[in-house]
Amino acid sequence: MIRLRSRSAEDTRAIGGVLAGVAGPGDLILLTGDLGAGKTVLAKGFGAALGITEPITSPTFTLVREYDSDPPLHHLDVYRLAGPGEVTDLDLPSLLDDGGITLIEWGEIVRGAVPTDHLTVELDLAPPDDDPDTRIVLVSAVGGRWAARMNHLSGVLAPWVVS
Ligand SMILES: Nc1ncnc2c1ncn2[C@@H]1O[C@H](COP(=O)(O)OP(=O)(O)OP(=O)(O)O)[C@@H](O)[C@H]1O
Ligand SMILES: [Mg+2]
Repeated sequence: MIRLRSRSAEDTRAIGGVLAGVAGPGDLILLTGDLGAGKTVLAKGFGAALGITEPITSPTFTLVREYDSDPPLHHLDVYRLAGPGEVTDLDLPSLLDDGGITLIEWGEIVRGAVPTDHLTVELDLAPPDDDPDTRIVLVSAVGGRWAARMNHLSGVLAPWVVS
């Protein structure tokens, strides 16, 4: 696991941009963390690094937003999913199989319904005695597809790494 400290929304955007530089077609990233932790901020940085210029907003009501980047980005927010039936309706397998990158906010909700191989990015709000803009970001690989890139990821994320 890689542990990062973000001191501002700008830091979290930049971390998203670095992750986009390492991600490729077919990759899945689950973003977890409380309301206001910074999942959408990270997604904005991720999309900007893919060259997306249109605004990236939390797709809370549509569930899935598609961006025509190269590779394409599927941005989901599954906070409002009612249950496993709705997860099936999302048809994650075909979304994951079309050559794009899939980024899912509140990813822990669909963890049981996604392929083993994914990257988890957990954003944690600062402890009460810390600066309110601080976030601890925990990046972990699940499955070999991301495990193989963890050394590289620690290098490119070095500016934010904390022990
Ligand atoms: N270090 C930081 N990283 C990210 N956001 C930060 C940070 N410090 C302050 N913020 C602020 O916290 C808020 C994060 O909001 P954001 O919409 O990204 O959260 P979210 O995790 O997507 O929440 P939701 O689950 O409601 O979609 C923004 O207003 C942002 O400016
Ligand atoms: Mg959000």
